[in-house]
Amino acid sequence: MIKGLKTALGAVTVGLLAGTTLAHAQSTDDELVKKGAYVARLGDCVACHTALHGQVYAGGLSIQTPIGTIYSTNITPDPTNGIGSYTFEEFDEALRHGIRKDGSTLYPAMPYPSFARMTQDDMKALYAYFMHGVKPVAQPNKAPGISWPLSMRWPLAIWRSVFAPAPKAFVPAAGTDAEIARGEYLVTGPGHCGACHTPRGFGMQEKALDASGGPVFLAGGAPIDNWVAPSLRNDPVEGIGSWPEEEVYQFLKSGRTDHAAVFGGMADVVGWSTQYFTDADLHAMAKYLKALPPVPVPPGRSAYTYDASTAQALDSNNTSGAPGASVYVEQCAICHRNDGGGVARMFPPLAGNPVVVSADPTSIAHIIVAGAVLPPTNWAPSAVAMPGYKSVLSDQQMADVVNFIRTSWGNKAPANVTAADIQKLRVDHAPISTASWGFGSADAATWGVYHPQPYGAGWTFSPQTHTGEDAAQ
Ligand code: HEC
Ligand code: HEC
Ligand code: HEC
Repeated sequence: MIKGLKTALGAVTVGLLAGTTLAHAQSTDDELVKKGAYVARLGDCVACHTALHGQVYAGGLSIQTPIGTIYSTNITPDPTNGIGSYTFEEFDEALRHGIRKDGSTLYPAMPYPSFARMTQDDMKALYAYFMHGVKPVAQPNKAPGISWPLSMRWPLAIWRSVFAPAPKAFVPAAGTDAEIARGEYLVTGPGHCGACHTPRGFGMQEKALDASGGPVFLAGGAPIDNWVAPSLRNDPVEGIGSWPEEEVYQFLKSGRTDHAAVFGGMADVVGWSTQYFTDADLHAMAKYLKALPPVPVPPGRSAYTYDASTAQALDSNNTSGAPGASVYVEQCAICHRNDGGGVARMFPPLAGNPVVVSADPTSIAHIIVAGAVLPPTNWAPSAVAMPGYKSVLSDQQMADVVNFIRTSWGNKAPANVTAADIQKLRVDHAPISTASWGFGSADAATWGVYHPQPYGAGWTFSPQTHTGEDAAQ
């Protein structure tokens, strides 16, 4: 009897123990999946792997390249159409090495050269999330709209071997402040900020993948979908040199500061990705960016100083100074004000704003042609709109007003936009040609240097950004 009781108790104890272990395993798995969901935010997988109005992670977002259209793929755990049958090793091969399960190389529109430095821990969590935290969607992948012979993928393998680094998990340099090291990991690894903010070389590779590449790292990219990602270096005029660390943090968290409003491709980044980062991670990125070594300022260029004469002239109805002045007063000043100061957290200032004076004016011409909506975020829920002027102003008027804001209130950018440039943006959504300005390296870039196929100039890896064509307009 006693023996029987003991046995029974033993069974109960074993049962209880097994129960605890199971529960424990369950909660570790849940935690891993939760961590993976966060890593997916860090990598902004959802922005590229979700079609406009499509199902989350089911792929199908079109990405324009000079040789044709490619589509992001279904990365839900659906075993037939998605990545449900991928082992961890195969998932790691795709993400960090750029090699698909069938052995072929991915287009570098998938930012695997940055993901190459993701840590094993983050990769394990990400895998757990995609296998157990994402809903499978049975949506077939779209074949790329590229015809033979350009559709052959083998040149991509050459690209990979020449330009993509051997994958190596990020290890901070000895003695780096832990917070800065975390910021470096986020910016150069999962966050792949350089994909847009670092200029690309003759093979369309990012010219530098981290600060060891010198001042070119995060020095500002070529237009993608006619939006230009400006320099993130501490250049006081064209970069974020005049931004306090706190404003970089605010911008990434809410999309707006007293001095800037997010738009274009960056609106996707804030909307889908950075607004979900923890405060600690956002502060780490801001601190890292502000700690990057200084960049040389072009000779003869002075720091920005506000010039009150533009506002004085506009206040006294004197618009004879420049052809765009009267357009500005009639169309723009109600929001951006005569003094170019805007209204904090609503209408961004144009005076001393790095995006207004960036060497390449494509972005600001584009925003005037097409308008934009400052996206609502969890931290700043109001959406504020900038109207598009393509049906209100002539090409010449738009060119004039762009040149006016580039040269007023102390802004000292070249007045280099013509009516023909605006016409192209309006009709073909074609970027403004920079060839004649002497810094047209992006135009000179060609895959043809390395490969038999003319991949062509202007390859931008440009996704059909969710904000690129604004449905709200
Ligand atoms: C800038 C856009 C972009 C981002 C960000 C991005 N991807 Fe991709 N990804 C792509 C494109 C485009 C492809 C397809 C490339 C091709 O067909 O060669 C792809 C392919 C893949 C593949 C291979 C799928 C297959 O069919 O074999 C996987 C897996 C993948 N991505 C996972 C991810 C994960 C996970 C993240 C986030 C950590 C991510 N991607 C972020 C654009 C992106
Ligand atoms: C899809 C391309 C893209 C990616 C990826 C991207 N950015 Fe941007 N970024 C832009 C564009 C375009 C702008 C200009 C529009 C604006 O100011 O909102 C911009 C502007 C910014 C600005 C404001 C600079 C200024 O002078 O106004 C900051 C800060 C910034 N990005 C930080 C980041 C960080 C940090 C990352 C990585 C987490 C990142 N960006 C990733 C495209 C991108
Ligand atoms: C109704 C108010 C309003 C009017 C009128 C207006 N804007 Fe804007 N503007 C905005 C808002 C809001 C944004 C931010 C949009 C975003 O972030 O998507 C903006 C953004 C911009 C930007 C990008 C700067 C940045 O950092 O985000 C430029 C350049 C600009 N406007 C120029 C003009 C010009 C030139 C005109 C006249 C032709 C004009 N705007 C008329 C509200 C306005």
